[in-house]
Amino acid sequence: MSTFLLILIIPVLFRLKYFILWVMSVISLMPFLFSTTSSDEMCFSLDSEYLKLEQVLQAASMDNKTIILTTLNAAWSSPGSVIDLFIDSFRHGVRTSSLLKHLVIIAFDRKAYRRCTEIHTYCYALVTGNVDFSQEKRFLTAGYLEMMWKRLDFLRLVLEKGYSFIFSDADIMWFRNPFPYFYPDGDLQVACDHYVGNATDLRNIANGGFNYVKSNNQSIEFYKFWYSSRLRYPGYHDQDVLNFIKHDPYIMDIGLTIKFLSTTYFGGICEPSKDLNEVCTMHANCCIGLQSKLHDLRIIMEDWRDYMSMPPSLKTSGAFSWRVPQNCSLSLLNQ
Ligand SMILES: *[C@@H]1O[C@H](CO)[C@@H](O)[C@H](O)[C@H]1NC(C)=O
Ligand SMILES: *[C@@H]1O[C@H](CO)[C@@H](O)[C@H](O)[C@H]1NC(C)=O
Ligand SMILES: *[C@@H]1O[C@H](CO)[C@@H](O)[C@H](O)[C@H]1NC(C)=O
Ligand SMILES: *[C@@H]1O[C@H](CO)[C@@H](O)[C@H](O)[C@H]1NC(C)=O
Repeated sequence: MSTFLLILIIPVLFRLKYFILWVMSVISLMPFLFSTTSSDEMCFSLDSEYLKLEQVLQAASMDNKTIILTTLNAAWSSPGSVIDLFIDSFRHGVRTSSLLKHLVIIAFDRKAYRRCTEIHTYCYALVTGNVDFSQEKRFLTAGYLEMMWKRLDFLRLVLEKGYSFIFSDADIMWFRNPFPYFYPDGDLQVACDHYVGNATDLRNIANGGFNYVKSNNQSIEFYKFWYSSRLRYPGYHDQDVLNFIKHDPYIMDIGLTIKFLSTTYFGGICEPSKDLNEVCTMHANCCIGLQSKLHDLRIIMEDWRDYMSMPPSLKTSGAFSWRVPQNCSLSLLNQ
């Protein structure tokens, strides 16, 4: 009889152990299962701030309907992180601080939006329901790709609203006003990872992280084409796809004029602007990982400040050069 009971009870006890473990794991998962992230973001997206795109663009616009745009996620928004360096560069550049009043920061998540409102006047929340953009996105993860494409589609909308823009990644330091360096006749003007010395040569390797786009039929049509091309090149980000489609005859049909911007003025870690007397912007491209990026961006800022504090005779001697790359690795990107 007792043996019979034991035979019955042992498996029950055994199962009980697993049952308890199961209950415990469910309890520990509760915060995730009933995560407030999505509903939180939903409420947030209904927030009145969300509907303010037109007002924000209008307020930040120059007289000729031109604005400066950048995007921000949580990982880049912490104090001392990328966005602070970005804003800081405008303040230390040559006649760039006044450009800040034309800058709109597009926030991808709540934390980035909050931080934006603390440090800047024009913030806009581009919230998406299903993807969490708040973590650092490693190059070419699915989340990173989605973020890049979302951004491109948003830029098309801005063009449709009649605004021309300079789009700049936040990991680009602005040291001089770029407007005088643009071509009068380019619809899309784009910085390069590698510049071959001729603004119309399609062998230039474009970097979509910095571009000046005029709002017109050609550019709007091109942005639609560019966005739809993601389906033909799954797994690639917008910048790669730009380098594929730049050869497409459809661009001729649209009548879009593309100009590639020289790395003499619009440089980066891939190909630094050699002369600090000429540099406009410096991009932490050819760099993987937030910590490496921050490290090298800080060096770039230090170099710029050192340059700015030099007497004019030393500045013009042209002897001063960048100390980057240090932690950013060119070899990782094979460029
Ligand atoms: C728009 O205005 C800015 C600021 O005055 C100027 O630098 C820029 O060249 C203008 N753009 C065009 C296309 O006229
Ligand atoms: C620049 O490149 C374009 C297109 O490849 C070519 O037609 C033009 O002759 C080049 N200009 C110079 C100055 O080499
Ligand atoms: C753009 O295209 C529309 C319709 O095709 C036309 O009415 C309009 O004039 C065009 N605008 C410009 C600036 O070319
Ligand atoms: C940057 O590189 C140096 C030397 O290789 C290393 O000591 C340091 O930890 C690196 N810093 C970061 C933030 O990666």
